Amino acid sequence: MKVALGFDHAGVKRKALVIGCLKKLGIDYEDYGTYTEESCNYAEYGAKVAEAVAEKRADKGILVCGTGIGMSIVANKVPGIRCAHCTDVFSAKATRQHNDANILAMGERITDEETMKGIIEAFFTTEFEGGRHEARIAKITETENKYLKKI
Ligand code: RB5
Repeated sequence: MKVALGFDHAGVKRKALVIGCLKKLGIDYEDYGTYTEESCNYAEYGAKVAEAVAEKRADKGILVCGTGIGMSIVANKVPGIRCAHCTDVFSAKATRQHNDANILAMGERITDEETMKGIIEAFFTTEFEGGRHEARIAKITETENKYLKKI
């Protein structure tokens, strides 16, 4: 599995932590930036990661900005992306089981380091349950397609 990583100037402080977690899990990654703490636009890096996942250059993604919210908003604009903004381990596990989320978004300013480690481990060790959740995801895709046709 390859994971695309994206950070803004607020989230980049957690890059080493994110990479450390992935290494511990034996998961390969590609870093799409940012690379410094200079102020930047979270939407640029969120879009890069979402496009990498949608175009299958990566299997999943991790986004970290100040809150994780801006990056999750932009990622969810890309067709095929189900980006989950998580602040707790339960949600990280549930969004894999129920939503088959393919991008995890978190916030450096709102989630402490130990919680973030737990969220990453839960997200990448939990499988989609399928079954009754398939139809619900199909409805998400149907909704996405309905509006894509209007573009
Ligand atoms: C940057 O100041 C901040 O707006 C960004 O990191 C993020 O929280 C946006 O949602």
